[in-house]
Amino acid sequence: MIKVGIFGATGYAGIELAEILQYHPDVAVIFATSESYTGQTLNQIAPQAPAWELVKSADAPLDQVDAVFLCLPHAASAATAVRARAAGCRVIDLSADFRLKSLETYEKWYKVEHPKPEWLAEAVYGLTEHARDGLREADIVACPGCYPTSVLLPLQPVVSAGLVDGTIIADSKTGVSGGGRKAKINYHFVEINDNLTPYGLGQKHRHQPEMLEQIVKWAGDNKAPGLIFSPHLVSMPRGILSTIYVPLKEGVTFDQVYALFAEAYQNEPFVILLPPNQNATVAHAVRSNRCAIGLTMGDDNTLILTGAIDNLTKGSSGQAVQNFNVMFGLEETTALR
Ligand SMILES: NC(=O)c1ccc[n+]([C@@H]2O[C@H](COP(=O)([O-])OP(=O)(O)OC[C@H]3O[C@@H](n4cnc5c(N)ncnc54)[C@H](OP(=O)(O)O)[C@@H]3O)[C@@H](O)[C@H]2O)c1
Repeated sequence: MIKVGIFGATGYAGIELAEILQYHPDVAVIFATSESYTGQTLNQIAPQAPAWELVKSADAPLDQVDAVFLCLPHAASAATAVRARAAGCRVIDLSADFRLKSLETYEKWYKVEHPKPEWLAEAVYGLTEHARDGLREADIVACPGCYPTSVLLPLQPVVSAGLVDGTIIADSKTGVSGGGRKAKINYHFVEINDNLTPYGLGQKHRHQPEMLEQIVKWAGDNKAPGLIFSPHLVSMPRGILSTIYVPLKEGVTFDQVYALFAEAYQNEPFVILLPPNQNATVAHAVRSNRCAIGLTMGDDNTLILTGAIDNLTKGSSGQAVQNFNVMFGLEETTALR
């Protein structure tokens, strides 16, 4: 049995993680933390979750576990990672604290000082399908953001092959759990229901630099495409759909691009490549660890990709468990649907 602890078990990502890990045959969950609900059990907060006692993070017995999952806000996550690494635990972080390689970009977008800038280079960006080699040896894994997972899995084959010429536009829609469980006015039922709201337009969302960093890496020696990212909040509890407009180089054909995707994702258990011209929908992915990808052409030179995930599974806790499985040499699909 691999012994693990969950920090931030009472948030949406933490609850989802608890639901997955309670059925993981190779995992024993030793502790689950909360700052606000100590003295209670997790199923008192979320009835679908196991009845684990909640402890304050300061009291978490780090010496008793092999790995920790950090389902915490940024900054709290990095500080906890420092404690966990000092105790010899491997860290799977769901926050943004180790996603960016550039310290300058991190501090500009997250407006906090990083406690361990030297760990940014070493942390593995855990977009599992494109990170397995690094994951096996990793001590710190940064699970990608939910929007980036829905955009980057569809983009990787076409960007890495150097077929893009121009600026990519990613138009994404998320369900309300993407904003976390803490109450915020603009997430109230009355504000959300029967509504669809753009936010963070004009390079103002923190996931834009995260995605761009990966795009630049994959572009390699080719000129890296730009990225316009337009997120929207939709009246649904969970799920993300990203519609991504990709200007192709002159002469690149749909059949060529589709063949590239078929090859890239043919053996992937969680990536569903839809038949040509079929679009991904939230229903393809919700309550599963799947990422559904659709391809169609918008005009002669513009590829339209659709990427659908569940933000709480493939977009956070499911992908975290997928990464954990690779890190510990387990069957990658264990405990995942
Ligand atoms: N929601 C998503 O779809 C999603 C997707 C991908 C990544 N993420 C990332 O995953 C992390 C958790 O997200 P979430 O949506 O689950 O957030 P959330 O619902 O707001 O939950 C946050 C959790 O962290 C705990 N917490 C808050 N401040 C803390 C502190 N200073 N020290 C220790 N514990 C603290 C809370 O505990 P108490 O309230 O019990 O005190 C709660 O358990 C975030 O970094 C988020 O960006 C979320």
